[in-house]
Amino acid sequence: MMNPQHIDEAALRRRLEQTFAFGVAQLAGMMAKWPVAKPAPIHTENGVWFRPNFMWTDWCPGFHAGMMWLAHERTGDACWREAAEAYTRKLEPRKFDRDVHDLGFIFMSTANRWHNLLADGDPVKQWLADMLATAGTVQSLRWKNTGEDHYIYSFNGPQSLFIDVMMNIRILFRAHQLGGADELYQRAVTHARTTEKFLVRKAGPRLVDGDGKVIHEAIFNPELGEFRNLSSQQGYSPFTCWSRGLAWAMYGFTDTWNFTQDPLFLETAERCAGFYLEHTPAHGVPYWDFGAPNIPNEPLDSSAAAIAAGAFWKLKDIGETRRNREIYRLAALNILQTLTGNDFSNDPSRDGILRHGVYHKPMGWGVDAALMWGDYFFMETLHAVLADAPTNAP
Ligand code: GLY
Repeated sequence: MMNPQHIDEAALRRRLEQTFAFGVAQLAGMMAKWPVAKPAPIHTENGVWFRPNFMWTDWCPGFHAGMMWLAHERTGDACWREAAEAYTRKLEPRKFDRDVHDLGFIFMSTANRWHNLLADGDPVKQWLADMLATAGTVQSLRWKNTGEDHYIYSFNGPQSLFIDVMMNIRILFRAHQLGGADELYQRAVTHARTTEKFLVRKAGPRLVDGDGKVIHEAIFNPELGEFRNLSSQQGYSPFTCWSRGLAWAMYGFTDTWNFTQDPLFLETAERCAGFYLEHTPAHGVPYWDFGAPNIPNEPLDSSAAAIAAGAFWKLKDIGETRRNREIYRLAALNILQTLTGNDFSNDPSRDGILRHGVYHKPMGWGVDAALMWGDYFFMETLHAVLADAPTNAP
């Protein structure tokens, strides 16, 4: 159980600044080996960034470019802006990608960050708004509307509802804000409600139950649309909580509240945050699945911790009670204290910023590795805490 205690915040702040600077140096080293013409890697293998031949889904290039935007925002260095723009421009064709559910991952960390830096009337801002609106519209076309329960379906097909998509409906909300159809907003809200209904559990007698416990996937009849069963791709089982799925839910429901102000979504984000606090070891980094059979001899997932820290940092401003808000603030700092320590921050002889992440344990991909999204959300949260500003505010 996490029990965030007193933290020397001045000392921690210095450490966060040093770690952000280390991250920027690692990113510079990476850019030399992964120039703009080369597709982005996913995870490290033996300490070196790696892009597998078989991709499953190409969901990570926005994290590579997104870290360049973070480096520019924090350092003000024009070189980083130039690089970030080049890597972001390259992503534009992905706005038409009908095969993935990841357009929020790809564009919220890149085109959206760039858009937020520009003044109204700038033609580049309009071009970026069009890019975001198109990406949101294209993402909304993955619409399962058979039966009673509707959602944006995963890359596996119309039968599949994934928890990860809670991060990607942000592009529908953003597209709507930028002039897209009302249907985009409605689909995003409906998706979040369906996800809460099936994938975020409440206390109860069944194996899958638990207050704020998150299940990776729900399967529906692809033709008639009714619910069939719970499932998992990257977790240990359909009955256990994949820790990164929980972190996506914390972050995704928090942002969904930010876009809608609907109390259900804040309550859901806080329920998930409560599960994280209760079931994560005191240092703040969870095992890759909370129900993995050999805990404590199971890999930890530092990327889940980085995402959760970002969610806690957002929740510290909006949690229902003042007591909870302070718990979330300390939880974010507690996690960052751990991740910036020697056990998790990488050494410069290896690629990546954050060690000990897990991509896909059942398939054996990227286990105990640096991960593109782990590094991105680590840097995003360091930046947010150092700037004391909301992370990637819509
Ligand atoms: N595909 C999203 C994840 O691995 O978390």
